[in-house]
Amino acid sequence: MPAISATAPGKVILFGEHAVVYGQPAIAAPVAQVRARAVIMAEPRFPAGSLRIQAPDIGVETWFADLPEDDPLGVAIKQVLAKIGIEDPPALTVRVTSSIPVAAGLGSGAAVSIAVIRALAGFLGRRLRDEEVCSLAFEVEKIHHGTPSGIDNTVIAYARPVYFKRKQDGNLIEMFPVASPFTLAIGDTGVRAPTLNTVGDVRAAWLADPERVGSFFEQIGALVRSARQAIESGAIESLGSLMNKNHALLAELDVSSIELERLVAAARQAGALGAKLSGGGRGGNMIALVSAETVEPVCQALRAAGASNTIVTTIQ
Ligand code: MEV
Repeated sequence: MPAISATAPGKVILFGEHAVVYGQPAIAAPVAQVRARAVIMAEPRFPAGSLRIQAPDIGVETWFADLPEDDPLGVAIKQVLAKIGIEDPPALTVRVTSSIPVAAGLGSGAAVSIAVIRALAGFLGRRLRDEEVCSLAFEVEKIHHGTPSGIDNTVIAYARPVYFKRKQDGNLIEMFPVASPFTLAIGDTGVRAPTLNTVGDVRAAWLADPERVGSFFEQIGALVRSARQAIESGAIESLGSLMNKNHALLAELDVSSIELERLVAAARQAGALGAKLSGGGRGGNMIALVSAETVEPVCQALRAAGASNTIVTTIQ
């Protein structure tokens, strides 16, 4: 049987991270320049039911049966087997590789889950719909994030810009037109900050002072609605100041960091129309809105200010 593979892109949150966990809308877009990849290979020489896991990037080589209950890869595999209704899968190897930095706000966890879910389902003869992939990956996200909104698995499963709102009776997921494509420079602080921690800290702050923190969430939600209008109408110049305002509110939520502030300031000084942290914060990546003229100077400024990597991506 031939090997079956699937890939999934990274993602950036353009507007609305953290507040989205509390029911405010957010906007996210895929980042195709970085990807997770899963390959499933039949292993006719292994005893039936043996599933080998290889993740060479992180030095993992193990058996599915030996994974802890809450291992994200193990949960992704279990989700697929349960969905398809297979109790005794044929012997196989699941090999996972990824160019998406881990704990950096670029959706590495969700992308790995989605690549594995799609590849394994394909290997077992089922082509899952995007919404099915999305909901299986959400179960894995709960391990990564504790109380995830679902935006990461959604934008990566659909691989298109999304306007997302968490709802009890089914999330609102809207694909919307990008009237004029716009370009982002993404700068990596090089600091790894698991989303589980920042989401937990924001929750603690909200529980301690629901009125003050809730008002930040509402202000962020209003910025997200304005950003959607600006993107849909091609008013790209107004997106920059919305990004700056969103960043200021995230700093109030205490999810920025010295390294993020340095990169955000460097991007603005080098001519970016706006800049903000993206994702869980306290490290990871920031995004800057750039033009054809400012893209290079901004990337150079980010590197000079300590970015360990820069990626340029166009949202369309
Ligand atoms: C992480 O990419 C975005 C957060 O809002 C968490 C979530 O929505 O689950 C920080």
